[in-house]
Parts: sequence; structure tokens; C-alpha cells
Amino acid sequence: MAKTVTCGQLRAQDQGKTVTLMGWVHRRRDHGGLIFIDLRDREGITQVTFNPAISPEAHERAYQVRSEYVLAVTGLVSRRPTGQENLALPTGEIELLAQSLLVLNPARTPPFNINEDSPVDETLRLKYRYLDLRRERMKDNIMLRSRAVKFIRDYLWERGFVEIETPMLVKETPGGAREYLVPSRTYPGKFYALPQSPQQFKQLLMIAGFERYFQIAPCFRDEDQRADRQPQFTQLDLEMSFVDQEDILSLTEELFTALVEKLTDKRIFQKPFPRFTYREAMAKYGNDKPDIRFGLTLVDISDVVARSGFQLFSDTVAGGGQVKGLRAPGCAGYTRKQIEGLVELARQNGAKGLVTLSLTTEGPKSPLIKYLSPAEVQDIVCRLEGEPGDLLLIVADQPPVVAQALSELRLEMGTRLGLMDKDVLAFLWIVEMPLFEWSSQEGHWQSKHHQFTSPMDEDISLLDTDPGRARAKQYDIVCNGYEVGGGSIRIHRREIQEKIFQIIGMSDEEARAMFGHLLEAFEYGAPPHGGIAPGIDRLVMLLAGEDNLREVTAFPKTQSALDLLTGAPAPVSEARLRELKLKIE
Ligand code: AMO
Repeated sequence: MAKTVTCGQLRAQDQGKTVTLMGWVHRRRDHGGLIFIDLRDREGITQVTFNPAISPEAHERAYQVRSEYVLAVTGLVSRRPTGQENLALPTGEIELLAQSLLVLNPARTPPFNINEDSPVDETLRLKYRYLDLRRERMKDNIMLRSRAVKFIRDYLWERGFVEIETPMLVKETPGGAREYLVPSRTYPGKFYALPQSPQQFKQLLMIAGFERYFQIAPCFRDEDQRADRQPQFTQLDLEMSFVDQEDILSLTEELFTALVEKLTDKRIFQKPFPRFTYREAMAKYGNDKPDIRFGLTLVDISDVVARSGFQLFSDTVAGGGQVKGLRAPGCAGYTRKQIEGLVELARQNGAKGLVTLSLTTEGPKSPLIKYLSPAEVQDIVCRLEGEPGDLLLIVADQPPVVAQALSELRLEMGTRLGLMDKDVLAFLWIVEMPLFEWSSQEGHWQSKHHQFTSPMDEDISLLDTDPGRARAKQYDIVCNGYEVGGGSIRIHRREIQEKIFQIIGMSDEEARAMFGHLLEAFEYGAPPHGGIAPGIDRLVMLLAGEDNLREVTAFPKTQSALDLLTGAPAPVSEARLRELKLKIE
């Protein structure tokens, strides 16, 4: 017996056909004489009707089946009686009148209901992921992911890109995210690393002359996990030769626009995607991955309060700090408890405190009133564009602290005020990133992106004089507060690459030991090149309207990097350890 149609396929015009369906029992209803089974497969659901007058045998068997049994049913497609159609189902105009039923496999009662989108403990979902993946929402997410990857492949293939796989067992690259190590059996004491990205290989492929490369690349990073991080994730890794930044930005932007418009009902907030320099983003949002679906931008009031009678403000400004604020519209009525909640959030994000100013109908209310003249208060309100009914939130501290605290407060207020439209995707570019960031732990500069990122031409002279001010040909694509992808134009000349290594505190010997192969390759005719790597998981998460990568990953790890289904990571036998010449302390 063969499956002749899917459970999502039959329509009114198929009436009169004899077909065989195979699938799972989604729901079973016993209506006295008649038994109805909704049979489900990946493509949909079809109602199968068991009537003892048509087949007493099939009816008898249908009586025995339970949820999630696997069945094969042959029968006659028939229009449902008038009034009994189910418009919510694409197959809802018909039913299958069963002539025979074969139970292909019974099933234990599942640990949670598969036929409804009710909340289920995530531990249970992950342990029984194969059942969780049967549920409609997860199934739709995984199918969307598959369609997105197919779309990307076709799109790039049509534009002259070549898909090339790069190795999964590589040499450890220090400097970036921590890599997972794999011990070598043949060379005891030596290790492979799992790639945190195919970065070096894609550059080598440009030197090899492929010009346009892409890969749907598994990547591994041993870092602290968050909702938007997985130890294993997938990048759309791409690289192009003979291009500048503009070429990569426009290709990515066109691809993302087409993806959203072809595969979802979501609206793109602004086209072309707005661009912010890193400095602008930090100034306006306190964040290099801002959610721009809503305003509530940060406003600098340092100059307004520099000489104010409120010492916290004047001292902060005198000490090289900043005073900035934002307005929370309509929140003047916040209770003491609600305000304390916001103060606590500011503290959790490093601020010493939070100053609030409520613009109530009886006038401004704030701890500031005691220290400032009405004119000074008015200046602050004016600068923050406060209106009656607003609550103004002000933080005074060093710039990184102000940025961190106010950006979190902004997001909190955006959430509380319902300003983040779920149906909108607000893409933007961050450009002109700093080339380096200072590592106080290590006492030297570190690459902000990675060591192969080219400085902006006009900032090359700063490498010798003031590296902290040098900007990079680096760009991030951001959407709804997530960094979706990052990339850069690469250094293709050895002398600049060596200078970067020097600045990040890497000696010639260290650079040669780690990247000798790449430095050497640069001497054999490296074309100018650059690329980008959007995270497929984050992208699909946004397309699907989810807020956790686990919802769009078939077999994810938990927040603490565990695989609850197979039990990884797991101990290995003494014999395996001996073979690898490893000892566990
Ligand atoms: P970067 O490190 O910025 O760049 O990573 C690119 C994108 O990969 C995704 N991503 C992750 N997704 C899920 N879980 C993680 N742990 C995780 N880490 C990163 C993000 C991120 O924007 N080789 C460079 C790219 C280049 O220069 O071309 C790179 O890997 O979406």
C-alpha cells in the first residue's frame, strides 16, 4: 500500500476519488455510530469518517486507535454535508469516507498535547523534541527555516555565488569567541577546534580566485548562552572579491527585503534600511543594536546641567561624565513602587541611580526640585521635549554606564508602552565601527570585529598616532534590537595586517605561529575582498516572530548548553580517554 496524497491536499474537486492517506491521529471523536479521526501529516489535516455501514471492520479498528497512532487509511473523497464544512481547514470542504484502516504503529500517550498550542514546560519539550516538532507552531517554524535557506541559496546562485564547504576541524583561532576543542587521537596532546566561523577559509577562497562564495555554515562558540545565542548556530557566510562596502550592503539589503516580502506578511519599517554610524547609534540609543520601531531616544543634557545646583549632575559633568535622559510618554502617574522598579533596573545596569521628573498636572515632581530653580527644571524639560503627563528618566555617570542604563530603560519603556509592533521588522545598518576597543584586562587594544578588518582609508594614519579613534570598514545589520549579521572589508595587504597584529599586542612570532598561512597567502596576489555573515537562526527567529533561537532550531541546546534529548555533553569511557591520552582531573 502506498500513500497517494498528503493530508493537506484534498479539495472539493477531488470528490469521488479513491485515495490512501498516511499520518498521525491528531484528534479522534466518537459520535455514537460515526467515528471521526483528524489525520495529520506535515502538510495538513484531513477528516476521516468511519461509518460502520461503509466498513464495519475499519470502524471497529478506528474505535481502538488513540492520539498519535500512525495510520494508513484508504477511502472515498466526499464533500461534507452542507453546514458541516470547516472553513478553518484548507481540506475543510471534504472528508474521507474510510473503506479500510491499517494501524502502522500504535503510540504511547504523549507527555503533552500535540494537537494544541498550550504552554508546555520547555524541559519536557526539549526531552521529547521529536514530539514537540510535530506541534503546528514548531513545524511551521522549521518549514519556514527550510524555505528561507532555499530562498537564500537560489538568490545567491542566480547572482554568481559558488557554495563551498569549509572544514569543521580547524586550528584554534585565539582572539574571537572561545572555540570548542576536539582532541586528536593520532597526535596525542594536540587539538582541533570547531570553527567559530569560516572567516579565514572564506578569505583564502578569495585568494584562490572564487570571487563570490557562500555557505550555510555551522558555527560553534563556547560562550555564555542567551536567548539569542546557541553553542552551535548557522551563518549565511559570504565573501566577495573586487567589491567595496556598498556592494555588500546593497546585496544583503536586497536579499533580506526579498526574503521578508516573499516569505512573510511582515512589514519592513523603512526602505532603504537606515544607516547609523556607531557613534550616532550609541548617542541616540545607547546601543549598537538599537530597536528603532519606536522613538524615546536618549538626549544629552550635560550642557544644561553642567552648572546646576544639583551636585550629582555638576560633578559628573566636571569629572568627564555625562547626563542624559529620555521621556516616557504618559507615565507621570507612576507610583513610588513603579519608579523604584525603574531605579532598580538602572542599578542592575551599572548606574548608581536614576533621577526621575514627573510632569504632573500640579507641576513637575522630582527630587531635583529642591536643588534647581524653576528655570533650570524648565530647561531640562524643554531639552527632553517633555509634555504634560510624561515621566522623564535621567542618568548621570560615565558615558558607557549612561548608555547601558538608559538603553535598557528605553527598551523597558518600549515594552511597557507596547511600542514594539510584532508585525514590523526594523532593519538598519551600523557603519563606521571603531576598529579597536581597549581591553583593560589585557592592557592593550583588541579588534572590535576581528583582526582581518580593514581600517577606513582616511583613518589609516591614526593607526600610528591614535588607534582608539580609527574607524573600520565594518558594518552590522540589526533588526528589532538584534544583531542579525556583521561583516567587513578585509585587509588584503600584508604590511597593514602586520601593523594590526602589533597594535593588538601580538608579536611577529605569535602572528606567524597563528596566522602564518594567511599572511603568506596574502603575498600570492590577494584580491581586495570583503563579506558578511548573517546569522540564519536570528534571521529566521525574526521572520517567524519568535524571541528565542530555540523556537527555530530543530534540536537546540538549553540555556546551559545541554542537549536534553540525547544527554550531551556526557562522560566517555576510560578506554577512550586512554586512546586520546587524556586524563580527567
Ligand atoms: P560575527 O561574530 O559578528 O561575525 O557573527 C555573525 C553573526 O552570527 C550570528 N551569531 C550567533 N547566532 C547564534 N548564536 C550565537 N552564539 C551567535 N554568534 C554569532 C549573529 C551574528 O551577527 N566571520 C564574521 C563575519 C564576517 O566578518 O564576514 C563573524 O562571524 O547573527
